[in-house]
Amino acid sequence: MLIDRETDMVNRRKFCAAAALAAGRTGAASQLAAEGGTPVRAKPLRADYWGPQYYDQKEGQELAEVLETGRPFRWYGRGPEPPMKVATFEKEFAARMQTRFALAVTSGTAALHCAMAAFQIGPGDEVILPAWTWHSCHDAVVHAGALPVFAEIDESFNLDPADIESRITPQTKLILAVHLQGNPADLDRILPIARKHNLKVLEDCAQSVGASYKGRPLGSIGDLGIYSLQLNKTITAGEGGAVTTSDPVLFERAARFHDLGYLRDVHERVVGKPKLDVFVGTNFRMNEFSGGVLLAQLRKLDTIVGAVRANARRVYEGIRDLPGIRLRQLPDPEGELGAAVFVAFQTRQLCDRFMAAMRAEGVPVSRPSGSVILPTLPYIINKVTVHPAWPSFTSPRGRAIKYGPETCPRTIDILGRFAGPNLDPKYTARDVDDIITAIRKVYPAVARG
Ligand SMILES: Cc1ncc(COP(=O)(O)O)c(C=O)c1O
Repeated sequence: MLIDRETDMVNRRKFCAAAALAAGRTGAASQLAAEGGTPVRAKPLRADYWGPQYYDQKEGQELAEVLETGRPFRWYGRGPEPPMKVATFEKEFAARMQTRFALAVTSGTAALHCAMAAFQIGPGDEVILPAWTWHSCHDAVVHAGALPVFAEIDESFNLDPADIESRITPQTKLILAVHLQGNPADLDRILPIARKHNLKVLEDCAQSVGASYKGRPLGSIGDLGIYSLQLNKTITAGEGGAVTTSDPVLFERAARFHDLGYLRDVHERVVGKPKLDVFVGTNFRMNEFSGGVLLAQLRKLDTIVGAVRANARRVYEGIRDLPGIRLRQLPDPEGELGAAVFVAFQTRQLCDRFMAAMRAEGVPVSRPSGSVILPTLPYIINKVTVHPAWPSFTSPRGRAIKYGPETCPRTIDILGRFAGPNLDPKYTARDVDDIITAIRKVYPAVARG
């Protein structure tokens, strides 16, 4: 295995040297396709959704069993014993994430709501979150009646640890550390800030299921983790989500909240004698069809992560020596998922040129995606909620807080200057080499200006 990898590395270096030579020569091969040269690929490269590419008879078998037994509901059904697909998924998910407990829910958004409940976030509380993340992060805070407080991102595209402390007030209760687009947030810097100010840390691993930070699975390092199992994520049943924690009280509150405020036998068996009373709940329960598919997918998680990481590493290895190249900051390169490889430019205009030239080469790249610069959205700027007297925005702090592009200039600047290819675990060596060839061809021409 080691020999294979070393041989592979040598071949890679030879290939890159040849590509560099080719790109350095004048002539048709190095002329940008955007300027009339031959494109690296005739048929544009296109990343696919990861999980469904791995669907096979394993997922089929799980679904068939639910159909054949007629037992689609997790708590009970035909027969004396409760169905066990969701429960087994929870057990194996907790083991994979190295936490004591895992709770399956209907979506990553539902998992965020459960997290807010677990931490007892409510009116008067403030939650710090990155300005660039998914709607659900902001919305879950607002639905809890609390106040979202945005901080800037850094060049890892995650919460900038240096921008957290100035946002903390006596009302701050929670830091939402989101691991965006496969890249772990810098927890070694975020956790001490949280501990110093007696704040909880929620890891949002929705976009980084299966990634790790310094050897530990994401979602096992802060106080609680949430995951999305929706189509765009590492493994999927179309929709789905999960919560992990090793704290029995946080787990019990999340489990009660995801159901009707009661603790069911299945969960009582894992968490022990209840410590809380019944309270107002929801229904974010996962069904057995989803549980079965996700169980099959979970057993393939390491294969998918291994494949996409290997492809990302080949790309990094193949472009790292380009003079002047600067890549997205990786707080732990070993733990990153490798969902995409991002290259920095001095200006937004150069980044636009890079994107256009790469598209012409048949290797499309994009700016960081899958999230939104939330403080720039009209519904957030205008604090629009389902009821005008929503408690998030009726307090003096809630009335005074300002959102808008002027509150996150660094986030806007950074996201405008990075672009790169999304990666796919099933890309062939040829596909990956085409990415490397295209970047080696285009980057020097664009970066020169
Ligand atoms: C960072 C982040 N958190 C939470 C979610 C919500 O997950 P879901 O779509 O499963 O509700 C997403 C979805 O993309 C996300 O990107």
